[in-house]
Amino acid sequence: MINDHEPAAIEPVVYLNSEFVALQDAHISVLDRGFIFGDGVYEVIPTYSRKPFRLQHHLARLNNSLTAIHIKNPLNSVQWQQLIEQIIHKNTYEDQSVYLQITRGIAPRDHSFPHQEKPTIFIMTTPFEKQPPEIAKKGVHAISLPDNRWQNCHIKTISLLPNVLLRQQAFDKGAIEAILIREGEATEGATSNLFIILEDCLITPPKGPLLLPGITRDLIVELADKQNICLKEQAITEAELFNAQEIWLTSSTKEILPVTKLNDKIISNGKPGAHWHQMIDAYHSYIKKLCSKETRKSQ
Ligand code: PDD
Repeated sequence: MINDHEPAAIEPVVYLNSEFVALQDAHISVLDRGFIFGDGVYEVIPTYSRKPFRLQHHLARLNNSLTAIHIKNPLNSVQWQQLIEQIIHKNTYEDQSVYLQITRGIAPRDHSFPHQEKPTIFIMTTPFEKQPPEIAKKGVHAISLPDNRWQNCHIKTISLLPNVLLRQQAFDKGAIEAILIREGEATEGATSNLFIILEDCLITPPKGPLLLPGITRDLIVELADKQNICLKEQAITEAELFNAQEIWLTSSTKEILPVTKLNDKIISNGKPGAHWHQMIDAYHSYIKKLCSKETRKSQ
């Protein structure tokens, strides 16, 4: 028997303000401050075998982003976890990307905060797309561009217009990402964090207001430590970026991308380097181990 209230299984199911609905039935007011001002924050949580990966790290960063823009976190971490697990189980794919957004809600248009706020909560999932095998053979092309974003890049805001324009400039040049340069130093990608290998040491810029504290970045720092790989959290100058033995870009959706061409310069002889191979193997083993541990726990 088909239950009238349950959307058909294949239709993506999303969560909007206390309800699970089919994607096509999810509607928000045009006065939502997310739509009018980009006044909100978000998270993207990778999910392997239906298990949200590093969820507590994502929830901690979400809380920091909400605090930074003065929105009270509408749920505690147990409630978030339950909600996220529900949405994962209502959707079809084993591996998903969970997109979660909170805005300051609906109010007459005025820049200053409304007196009474009721945040809008929206969650959707999309299939997690595995790295195509060509990446491990050829790597990817990136370009460098001036980092013209604001001074609070540590907040995961939905106001992404600068990032959108920067990434599009990269796409227009046949590249997949823009590596951003601010006052002579490389900060991160338009949608990813940055690592380089220089003199066989892994280097990533330290956390601070000029870059997003990536969850993938932190895991790579941890994995480097476990494997006794030399790691430095220090500024990367533009010259160091161009002289790097290897360049990687990291994010929850792209995992670790090896850059083999930066502008017109071939990096790492045009092939993903040995350090990248070592780290991507360690990264995938970590995911596998964690998933099998959690499966055993839940049995
Ligand atoms: N973006 N820096 C920026 C500017 C980003 O947008 C992202 C991720 C990262 C990497 O963070 P993490 O490892 O936590 O995914 C760094 C996501 C995936 C997005 O906007 O879709």
